[in-house]
Amino acid sequence: MDELIMNSIDSKASEIKIVINLREYSITVKDDGIGITAEEMEKIGKRYYSSKSMGSENGKEMTLGYQGEALSSIGQVSLLEIISNERERRRQNRKVIRGGQVILNVSEEPNDTHTKATQMKKVH
Ligand SMILES: Nc1ncnc2c1ncn2[C@@H]1O[C@H](COP(=O)(O)OP(=O)(O)O)[C@@H](O)[C@H]1O
Ligand SMILES: [Mg+2]
Repeated sequence: MDELIMNSIDSKASEIKIVINLREYSITVKDDGIGITAEEMEKIGKRYYSSKSMGSENGKEMTLGYQGEALSSIGQVSLLEIISNERERRRQNRKVIRGGQVILNVSEEPNDTHTKATQMKKVH
């Protein structure tokens, strides 16, 4: 769960919402950060995929993550659902990963424009 929160902080979110559902044993982390494009969604959940680069030498800002391990590991051991909105393109990108397999990966017109930029839901 802290990995998801750190990702939200990395995405420059100003607000992070965390919901723990004890009945369905799930954790949902929503943020209003930079979001995930359809192109990037393709790569997410693959081992070692990270959009972040290490180090601050070339003036890049520091990020909490960079190894690209968190989401791929969560996708191995849980059901991971990622929903991200691209406001300018009016797209909602969704991906579901379970047991390391991609079950769903779609980009469609959003029906719910109130969804925060990115929502990560993990069901054990
Ligand atoms: N809340 C989020 N908002 C935007 N992009 C995200 C978010 N969470 C994850 N990502 C994207 O997924 C990639 C993989 O995440 P992760 O496995 O935690 O690796 P890392 O944080 O080490 O880069 C990140 O590099 C980032 O591009
Ligand atoms: Mg991370």
